[in-house]
Amino acid sequence: MAYLIKAGRVNLRTVRKADAESMYRYLQDGEIGRWTLIPRPYRRKDAQAFIEVAQRQARKKKPNMILLGIEYPETGEIIGGIGLHQINYQHKNAEIGCWIGKPFRGQGLVTEAMKALMQYAFKTMKLKRVSAQVFVGNVASMKMVRRCGFTREGCLRSNFLQRGEWRTSYIYSILSEELKNRQVILGNPPYPKTALRRGNSAAILRLIYI
Ligand SMILES: CC(C)(COP(=O)(O)OP(=O)(O)OC[C@H]1O[C@@H](n2cnc3c(N)ncnc32)[C@H](O)[C@@H]1OP(=O)(O)O)[C@@H](O)C(=O)NCCC(=O)NCCS
Repeated sequence: MAYLIKAGRVNLRTVRKADAESMYRYLQDGEIGRWTLIPRPYRRKDAQAFIEVAQRQARKKKPNMILLGIEYPETGEIIGGIGLHQINYQHKNAEIGCWIGKPFRGQGLVTEAMKALMQYAFKTMKLKRVSAQVFVGNVASMKMVRRCGFTREGCLRSNFLQRGEWRTSYIYSILSEELKNRQVILGNPPYPKTALRRGNSAAILRLIYI
């Protein structure tokens, strides 16, 4: 079973074994290691381990995290990653994280991916709040979350230990009602009901058009 979310010019989908090579290639970029907790150096076995975790989580009815690849539809290649982490079903919140390969940056593709995943988080999973943490200095990411409608709440001092160095992050959030209010987030409703229904085929568990 797998996720497939249509997100404008890209698709978000559960990664497969065959995606390890493209993930490995794009995750060699030092900028990704600099601004995230993704291992640096990034090895093939890191990609393989990630894929196993993502698939295991995708099989769960209530996953702790939803880990998706950003797929470039023309080639089917995984060019980035996006996910909901620390999903809390009691308090209805989660944290979002993302990266995209260098050749694909600055085109708004992650903005589209974020909006689609938030749509899924708020409309389908019925979450109340999605947060995002951005290391101080990560200007591209700060611009991108702002454009997606997030509000900066504050600064969390030395709250990540990244390869032995303490990192301070800004915390941003967006609430479900803000998603509704900000038309920027919405795609082209109405969404076909059949697309929102679970388990249409054995291969596709959740299919959403944004
Ligand atoms: C952050 C990231 C996901 C943004 O993806 P993207 O598809 O390039 O995002 P967008 O094109 O929607 O927007 C990026 C914005 O930052 C700007 N930008 C890009 N690199 C920049 C840099 N080094 N310094 C300042 N601004 C930068 C772009 O011009 C764009 O600005 P605009 O809003 O004025 O047009 C991508 O840069 C990335 O993968 N970075 C490395 C990993 C990472 O930081 N992940 C996020 C962790 S919180």
